[in-house]
Amino acid sequence: MNKIDRRNFIDLLLGFGFAGWLGSVFYPIAKFLKPPKRIEASVGSVKAGKVSEFPMDSGKIIRYGRIPVILIHKPDGDFIALTATCTHLGCIVQYRKDKKQIWCACHNGLYDLNGRNISGPPPRPLTKMDLRKVGGEILISRPKETG
Ligand code: FES
Repeated sequence: MNKIDRRNFIDLLLGFGFAGWLGSVFYPIAKFLKPPKRIEASVGSVKAGKVSEFPMDSGKIIRYGRIPVILIHKPDGDFIALTATCTHLGCIVQYRKDKKQIWCACHNGLYDLNGRNISGPPPRPLTKMDLRKVGGEILISRPKETG
């Protein structure tokens, strides 16, 4: 009777060891196959920096989660934030101080300072982001859905 109990105990230990080994092999595989949800989905607003960090008549690319955004301090003193991905084939646009326009170097696409496509192949305007100044900081967020 005592021998049987000892044998059962050893079988139980081996069973736990085997179950642990299975878990240590398959858990990482399961985590790899089902990755966690992206954190970017919950991004509300992003601090672009202090107002004083953006000289007038300049543009800078910042990140809104995974979305590149071009923040422009216009020559008239206003700020605007637009998605920086060209609507033609997805190149990153840049501010052209000499032309006072937004330029895509890939195929010479041009946008005005409100993001409207005005020349070249881009078929649509750039998307305007919401921009707020709070306590000397510039905050960028997604535009509110309309309609
Ligand atoms: Fe911008 Fe073609 S990708 S003009």
